Amino acid sequence: MFCRLACVILLSRKRPNMRNWLLRQAIVTEQFRDLIAKPGERHLVFGGTRAGKSSWIDWEMRAIQDERPDCMQLLIDSKPRFRAEKERMLLNVRARRNCQWRYQHWQKGPILPNSVLVDIWADHPFRGLWHDPGEIAVMQSGDSGDWKRMLELLMFFARAQVTGRERHITADEVLDFYGRTTWSLSNKNDVFYLVARSGGERAIGETLGSQRVKGLPILIRNMFSRITLFHLTENSDMAYLRDNGIDDVKSPDGDYVFRQWVKQPGGLVSQPVTGKLALPEWYLNQLAST
Ligand SMILES: Nc1ncnc2c1ncn2[C@@H]1O[C@H](COP(=O)(O)OP(=O)(O)OP(=O)(O)O)[C@@H](O)[C@H]1O
Ligand SMILES: [Mg+2]
Repeated sequence: MFCRLACVILLSRKRPNMRNWLLRQAIVTEQFRDLIAKPGERHLVFGGTRAGKSSWIDWEMRAIQDERPDCMQLLIDSKPRFRAEKERMLLNVRARRNCQWRYQHWQKGPILPNSVLVDIWADHPFRGLWHDPGEIAVMQSGDSGDWKRMLELLMFFARAQVTGRERHITADEVLDFYGRTTWSLSNKNDVFYLVARSGGERAIGETLGSQRVKGLPILIRNMFSRITLFHLTENSDMAYLRDNGIDDVKSPDGDYVFRQWVKQPGGLVSQPVTGKLALPEWYLNQLAST
């Protein structure tokens, strides 16, 4: 039996002006709130291609934004897939302007509400960000030449001394950063590992999406506090999850169905919750179906 999770948005497609406003008022159900990363958590989202990982991750960011607007969220989007809503103005870093022109050659797609595109090559890329409650900063490039810079900025973000505010990093395709030539292969540059190791105490959490379990460093896999699993086909991936303490691992069946386990502080893994995210129609209409 699936518990049906609804991201209920009362949205009329006939009233486009209402859309943006309602987007910000996203009412995410209590059931879904229970399944999102809590402050300082390490959340791994696995599943085969087109299984529903990125949509889940998108809604997790929205739910964190809605529930914990004080949280400084940073998305690292290497595909790239997500559309930021605004960008920073050059002279007044607190001011924002619309940045949809940057996506004019993309296929249609949903805009991440209250998000700001980071100018990764600026001298001070994070200056002026996260003053607005719930603002999500988006570092975005499909060019592997930019990824080292993005990882360096991510490290700066993770190492910064921030007191009294939660931070959360989201990487939709984390395996992009563990290729043979990338920066994070060295442990001392591995920001995802750094956050996994010490983030809990410093209130920095992370959500890492990946098509495969294999390839993600074992140290990161071991430190998860929450795993959401969509359909996975490779037996070897299942074996890795079993090695990481999920004895009853079984890939969920059915379109966009997930299974989620939570690791208790003592190391005990919970019984899985099985469900399917019921996404609003206006959102699905903006996604490519193939
Ligand atoms: N919960 C859902 N309900 C209905 N349709 C969904 C749901 N989640 C995803 N989809 C559909 O499946 C498509 C693929 O979803 P998504 O991009 O989230 O998958 P993915 O696992 O991230 O894929 P990839 O591995 O290619 O990145 C979406 O474009 C959408 O059409
Ligand atoms: Mg994806």
